[in-house]
Amino acid sequence: MIAAIIYKSQTGHTRAYAELLSEEIGIPSYDIGEALTMIPKGAPIIFMSWIKFGDIVAYGRASRKYDIKAVVAVGISAAGNKQLDRARKRHRIKGQHMFYLRGGLNLKNIHSIERKMIQAMQSNLAKAIAKKKKKNQSVTESERDTLNSLMNGGNYVRKENLSSIVQWYKENEI
Ligand SMILES: Cc1cc2nc3c(=O)[nH]c(=O)nc-3n(C[C@H](O)[C@H](O)[C@H](O)COP(=O)(O)O)c2cc1C
Repeated sequence: MIAAIIYKSQTGHTRAYAELLSEEIGIPSYDIGEALTMIPKGAPIIFMSWIKFGDIVAYGRASRKYDIKAVVAVGISAAGNKQLDRARKRHRIKGQHMFYLRGGLNLKNIHSIERKMIQAMQSNLAKAIAKKKKKNQSVTESERDTLNSLMNGGNYVRKENLSSIVQWYKENEI
């Protein structure tokens, strides 16, 4: 039995997903800071956090304390499979289920240093797309979509995006 959904969120998109998932599967959700005093060590949990330059923020902190059964990474990219593969290696995630959700980006809500970092990501992706075009290689819809989000922000949080996680939970009700 999963004891809790524990999340780390900077600008609220991951929190919104955690609250929606909590409603869907009937398991309480807690911010990681709050959880550390309320949920006992070793408890089985679903961990949800945002992606920062390929890292799942606070994964280490959560994995040292809890028995993570599934990891949900929230980012701005249109597609998440490559990021999940990278994160799995980077955090040495073995065995646990991993899911990617597209969260959102509110450029006004982030620190100016982080905004500059986002601008650097945007410029790198724009250059990669330009290079592909020059070589007559096809640019994917996902690349275009991600670039648009990095430039303009957006909110992609939808209850429907949780369907594969809800299905996994129902099939495994651990
Ligand atoms: C400094 C910074 C780095 C980020 N790096 C990535 C990244 O590597 N991949 C990605 O998909 N999204 C990245 N994002 C986007 C966030 O993961 C996304 O906005 C997420 O929804 C934030 O969740 P939150 O609102 O719960 O904090 C980055 C955002 C910031 C501010």
